[in-house]
Amino acid sequence: MEFKHVPVLLEEVINGLNIKPDGIYLDCTLGGGGHSSEILKKLNKNGVLIGVDKDKEAINFASKKISKFSKIINFDEMKNIYNCPKSIIINSDFKNVVKILEKNNVNRLDGILIDLGVSSYQIDNAERGFSYKKEGLLDMRMDQNQSLTAKDIVNNYSENQLKKIFYEYGEEEFSHSIVKNIIKYRTKKQIETTTELNNIIESSLPKKIIYSRNGASKKVFQALRIEVNKELEKLKETILELIEKLNTKGRICIISFHSLEDRIVKDSFKIMATNCICPPNIGICVCGHKAKIKLINKKPIMANEIELKENSRSSSAKLRIAERL
Ligand SMILES: C[S@@+](CC[C@H](N)C(=O)[O-])C[C@H]1O[C@@H](n2cnc3c(N)ncnc32)[C@H](O)[C@@H]1O
Repeated sequence: MEFKHVPVLLEEVINGLNIKPDGIYLDCTLGGGGHSSEILKKLNKNGVLIGVDKDKEAINFASKKISKFSKIINFDEMKNIYNCPKSIIINSDFKNVVKILEKNNVNRLDGILIDLGVSSYQIDNAERGFSYKKEGLLDMRMDQNQSLTAKDIVNNYSENQLKKIFYEYGEEEFSHSIVKNIIKYRTKKQIETTTELNNIIESSLPKKIIYSRNGASKKVFQALRIEVNKELEKLKETILELIEKLNTKGRICIISFHSLEDRIVKDSFKIMATNCICPPNIGICVCGHKAKIKLINKKPIMANEIELKENSRSSSAKLRIAERL
């Protein structure tokens, strides 16, 4: 299947990063390489882009794409090649990236992008099992080397565990009846496919809810995807660590697609933009915390009318930008 993904808020991200042509930029979520290619077009022969993704298919596709705008090198070659923009590609979870950078003596960055969530390719490819609209095995792994799949969760998690993830990660108000029907179904046979799960969910919802929602199973599928890929785990810690690596005036741009992610981004930026984080009733500051960033936009940037018409995925995208002090 062809790898298709239209980068969201592209112009806003490129403007937001305020790119220095000879800078070092980190794209934590390479995907189809759409944002990275535009970053590379702004870099000169001294500039470096480091691209990370945990999905091997994304790495393969994006590597080909960005090789048109840069020479792909290893960390060792960073100091030897000066005749064109360079890219370093890392197949890993971005939660590991600070350690990888430190191990390779990359201690400062001029800009960071995190475009959270899944790519259109992952959603549209039935074999990846992310979509309730396409029949496929219940997989949902971004990292194909990981063992835990959505099928394992749906068939093996306890009733309470399932309810918890559907409520917390999907904000699904019908979690109780959906889980009851999952448990009933799996006493007869394993739930193997996206279609089987979709049918169980639809049979658990009142008809008027099915008609009123844009995708009756969307919430449960989102919850499962977050649980399979541990999407919210250590996100805050990683954002805080990454901000520490920014040069003065370096920018961080983060795009989120649902309120749980956006809350984490907002809170992480708030902590890093605040001078004192002592409890309000303490009177005198004892924490000694100093602000390390300033917020470039107080309210998140959303897609404009033109982008909304061209790319429906952009409708839930929120971009927050901060600059290192
Ligand atoms: C929305 S897409 C990024 C699209 C990209 N900005 C572009 O323009 O093509 C998100 C990508 O991030 C990857 N991803 C999500 N969470 C990740 C994580 N924790 N570590 C590494 N990659 C991750 C996914 O595999 C997916 O390819």
